[in-house]
Amino acid sequence: MGLACIPAAGDPPDVRDVLLRADRFRFAEYDALPGWRLAVCMEGDLSEISWEFVENVIGTPQADTASGAGRQEYGGRGMIVPEAAAQEKQKDKRSTSIVFTGDIGFDRYMAGRYRDRDLLAPEVRAFLGGADHVCANVEGPLIAIPANTVTEGAAQLKHSMEPAVADFLQGIGADIWNLVNNHIMDAGPEGVAATLREASARGIRTIGAGMDISEARRPVILQEAGGIGLFGVGYRRACREAGPDKAGCFSWNDMDGILEVIGEIKRTCRWCVAVVHGGEEFTALPTPYTRDRYLRYLEMGADLVVCHHPHVPMNYEIRGEKAIFYSLGNFIFDTDYQRAQFNTEKGVLLKLCFTETHWSFEPMGLRIDRETERVLPAALPKIFRDVPEEEYRLLVPLAAKMFIANTKRQQTFLNPGRFLGADDAVWKAHFEEPMRSGRVPGEALDFFVICPLADAARDGAWKKSTLEDVKAFILEQMDGGPADADREEGS
Ligand SMILES: [Fe+2]
Repeated sequence: MGLACIPAAGDPPDVRDVLLRADRFRFAEYDALPGWRLAVCMEGDLSEISWEFVENVIGTPQADTASGAGRQEYGGRGMIVPEAAAQEKQKDKRSTSIVFTGDIGFDRYMAGRYRDRDLLAPEVRAFLGGADHVCANVEGPLIAIPANTVTEGAAQLKHSMEPAVADFLQGIGADIWNLVNNHIMDAGPEGVAATLREASARGIRTIGAGMDISEARRPVILQEAGGIGLFGVGYRRACREAGPDKAGCFSWNDMDGILEVIGEIKRTCRWCVAVVHGGEEFTALPTPYTRDRYLRYLEMGADLVVCHHPHVPMNYEIRGEKAIFYSLGNFIFDTDYQRAQFNTEKGVLLKLCFTETHWSFEPMGLRIDRETERVLPAALPKIFRDVPEEEYRLLVPLAAKMFIANTKRQQTFLNPGRFLGADDAVWKAHFEEPMRSGRVPGEALDFFVICPLADAARDGAWKKSTLEDVKAFILEQMDGGPADADREEGS
C-alpha cells in the first residue's frame, strides 16, 4: 500500500484510517494546506493512474497535464493539487462531459461488493473515468447501521449503505451525488446528515436532498461549456419532502420551486439538466402523466431530463434540441424484489457531452452478472431508443398492459397471502381501490389512468408502430408472451 509523502510545511494529517478503506486511490481534504486536496495512490505508483483520470476527478483541466503546473509529486506515490487553481481554470473549459448512472445500492446481493476491485469491468471503469464528471444516484443513506434483514413484505424495501461506499463512489469519479430518491430517508434525517457529511468530506457535491428545503433544491453549477446547472427532484409519495426546518427531498410536484431553480440556473448557465427520481417501477414507456410532467420541465426551460427509479431501462425522447431520458435502469443494485421482475439486471450509463452551443450523448449498455454480481458491458437494451410522440401514442397502451402484468407480479411478491393465485375479481378490486398503496392521483401508480389505457391495447393500434424492437421488448414481458397479447386482442 502506498502512502502519500507530505511536504515540509505543516504536520502530516492522519489519513491512515481513510487509506485502509480506499480502493486504488482517494482524494482527501488536506488540512495542512487549506484549499488543496491530497491525492494518494494506494498501490503501485502514479503511472498506474492516468493523469487525465486524476484530473477529471479533481476537476483540473488537462492543460495542466502538459505543463505540470499546479501540481507537486512526492515520492512517486502522492500528489497535491490546488483546488482554487483548478476551479479558476474550469471557467475556460469549453467542453465537458457528465456520466449519469442508474440506481446504486450496496445491500442484499450487493452487500459489501464495493470491496471487489473487479466489481466494474475495465470497460465500465474506463467509460466512467473518461468523463469529466459522474453524477451517481445514491439510492439510500450512507450510514453505519445494521443492514435490513427483513425478507418479507414492504419492510424488506428499506435500504442503507455502509459509509465506506463513499470511497468506492469517489474512486469511480462520482463527484456529484443525486440524493433525491425514495430511500434516502430510510434511516431518517440522520441518514441524510451522515451522507452529506461523507460527501462534504470529499468535496463531492449533492443535489435533490438536504437537511432543509433550501439545501435540497440547491443546484450544482459547473463553470464549463457555457455553464451547466443540475438539480434533482423526486416523485412525491415516497421521496419525503424537505421543509424549511425538515430534512428530505425536493419534490417533482413543487412546480413553483422548480420554475425558480430553472430560472436561477438559466440566468448564468447555457444548460440546465433536471435529474429526476420518478416514474413507475418495472415499466417500459412512461405513463402519460409522468411524460407530461417531464415535458413541462422542458417548457419551463430545462434542456435535458435524466431519470431513474423504475429499476429497468426505458426509452428516451428527443424533443427538438432537448431530450428526456426516462430511465437508466439499475447500475449496482440486486435484490429479490428486483429479481422477481424482467430486465432489472440491465442498465445504461449515459454520457452527456456539452460544448457552449451543442450537446450530444453516448450511452453504454450494462448487465449485472448475477453469478458473480459484477457489472459488465452489454448491448444497449432494445427499449433504449428514441420513441417519438406519434410512436409513443401507438405503443403506450401496450406498455400499460404489460405494466399491469408486472404490477401483479410485484404485488404477489410483496403480499403472496393476498395475491398468490388471485382471480380477476381480486385484481379488479385492488386496482379500483381509491386509496390503494402508492397511488397519488395523476402522479404515481394511478390505475384509474393506467387500466383504461391498457384496455385500449385491445384495438390493436399498437401493431401499426414501426418500432419492432420496442414492440418485441414489451411483448416479451407480457404474461404468456406475444400470443397472449394477440389472443386478448381478438377476445
Ligand atoms: Fe427509487
